[in-house]
Amino acid sequence: MKINILTIFPELYNSFLCESIIGRAIASDKIEVKIIDIRDYTANKHKKVDDYLFGGGAGMLLTPGPIASAIESNNLSKTMIINTSPRGQVLTQALAKDLSEHQEITILVGRYEGIDQRIIDKYVNLEVSIGDYILTGGEIASQVIIESVVRLLPNVLSNCLSSLDESFTNGLLEEDHYTRPQNFEGLEVPSELLSGHHLNIAQWKIKNRLKKTYFNRPDLLDRYKLNDDEQNYIEQLKGEKNEENKN
Ligand code: ADE
Repeated sequence: MKINILTIFPELYNSFLCESIIGRAIASDKIEVKIIDIRDYTANKHKKVDDYLFGGGAGMLLTPGPIASAIESNNLSKTMIINTSPRGQVLTQALAKDLSEHQEITILVGRYEGIDQRIIDKYVNLEVSIGDYILTGGEIASQVIIESVVRLLPNVLSNCLSSLDESFTNGLLEEDHYTRPQNFEGLEVPSELLSGHHLNIAQWKIKNRLKKTYFNRPDLLDRYKLNDDEQNYIEQLKGEKNEENKN
C-alpha cells in the first residue's frame, strides 16, 4: 500500500514512521509512505499557507492554492483522498478495514480551522474524525488512521490471528488478558484459563467479553446479536448492577 501524507508539519512524522509496526512495514516494503510538505507548494516567499475566514470567525484556514498544487504536482488527484477533520465520519474498525483495501491513500492533514471547502469539494473523497473532541491539528489523527489501517494489511502483524480476535472485530470488546506469573502479589489468574479445558476457556472468554462490553460500551450490544445464553447472562449482569446501585 502506498500512503501519501500532505501536511505543514512533516517533522511530526519522524519517530512515528521509524518505530514498531509502521517502521517494520516500511522497512519490509509492505507500505511506502511519502510525506509531502504543503509549504513547498506555496507561491509566496514567506511560505504562508493560511489566511483569515471570509465571513468572519475565529482562527485561520489553510488556503486552497498550495494544497491543490501539492495534489496535482504529485499526481494524487485520482487516489483515495482523506481529510482529517472533526466534522468527518468517525473512524471505526470497519472503516479501517475498508481503507486497508485501497492500493493507495492520500491523507490531507487539516490544521487550524481546517481547509478551504473548495479543496474538499474538488479533491476529498472522505472526511475522517478520530472522535468527538477537537485536536489542534490532524497530524495525530492521521497517525491513528494509518496505524489502524496498516496493521490490517496482510503479513504486517506477526501473528495473523491477532487482528481477527481483537476488540470491535467481532462486535464485542476483547476479554481480559493474563500472562506469567500465575500468582502476582497474591492476585491469581482466573482458574478457567489454567484449566486446559477448551470449552470452559471459550465460555469464560465470551462471558468476560460480554461483561466488559456491557459495562464499558453498552452501545455495542445494540448491534450485537445475542444468543439465548448470552441474553441471560446480560440479564444477570443487569440484576447485579441494579443490586449494586441500591447498596
Ligand atoms: N482535527 C482536529 N480534531 C480532529 C479529530 N477529532 N479528528 C480528526 N481530525 C481532527
